[in-house]
Amino acid sequence: MIIVNSISKLRSLRKELEGEVAFVPTMGALHEGHLSLMSEAKKHAQTLIVSIFVNPTQFGPNEDLDTYPRDTEGDSKKCESAGCDILFLPSVSEIYDDNAKTEVSVASLTTNLCGAKRPGHFNGVTTIVSKLFNIVQPDVAVFGKKDYQQLAVLRRMVKDLNFPIRIIGSPTVRESDGLAKSSRNLKLRSDYRKSAVALSQGLVKAHKAFESGERKGATLEQIVKDEVETAGLVPDYISCVDPDTLETYEGGEKALIAIAIFAGEVRLIDNIELHEELAI
Ligand code: PAJ
Repeated sequence: MIIVNSISKLRSLRKELEGEVAFVPTMGALHEGHLSLMSEAKKHAQTLIVSIFVNPTQFGPNEDLDTYPRDTEGDSKKCESAGCDILFLPSVSEIYDDNAKTEVSVASLTTNLCGAKRPGHFNGVTTIVSKLFNIVQPDVAVFGKKDYQQLAVLRRMVKDLNFPIRIIGSPTVRESDGLAKSSRNLKLRSDYRKSAVALSQGLVKAHKAFESGERKGATLEQIVKDEVETAGLVPDYISCVDPDTLETYEGGEKALIAIAIFAGEVRLIDNIELHEELAI
């Protein structure tokens, strides 16, 4: 595996590559969720490029940029074992010019769910992913369904801006008790780590209700709310939406529940596609 810090070095290596290139962008503190994206990516291309960049522009002023977990050495080893060929580890100054004036913004899909709660977050994501796409020039890029809204927004962006890149969505990898793997799980106090299981348990209950014929979004949301509140978690939002438009679910055979909660200071997200087979 080659480790690269500069854009120019990455570009010159990229020019020499033959065959298809797959790309997995990350912010590091890598866990099995990230590694599953890498193994998925390897099925689609000869070369795997991974980036680790804690992108400051997607964090709000009161969010956890400063305390976001970082472990470059451990992450590099994990990437190498996962079959990564080139690891791109740029600094903030390598990526952002102080005089930059351009931002990529996807108008719809970004106004509700996490978009409503984290103003500016998705502009940060779409801008950095566009920049990384232009630097890496992959044929395929893999993103996790764990961040369902992010995946939907990036699919839209790629269509709208004609990026010649296939976007692949990969299933959420979970701990044995059902909690979705997340770099932020490391920050959970031990009592909150235990109660965080209510997040996936609530989603499973809603899934069962949907299977039994429940089609009222508000009822499905309430099932999840009861479960997480009983466990002492504080909902940021719990929304039953149309999985394609992310607009409020109005009945029908396809639905998604997306949830964000606070477990103390730590904000966790999860979601479930109610029409898909239960995978938790
Ligand atoms: P990060 O949170 O590091 O996640 C990188 C990728 O891993 C994303 O596509 C995310 O959906 C996926 N992922 C995280 N947890 C997962 C899990 N438990 N199962 C499956 N996939 C999982 O998402 C970002 O970074 C950033 O916004 C980024 C796209 C890199 C832009 O800065």
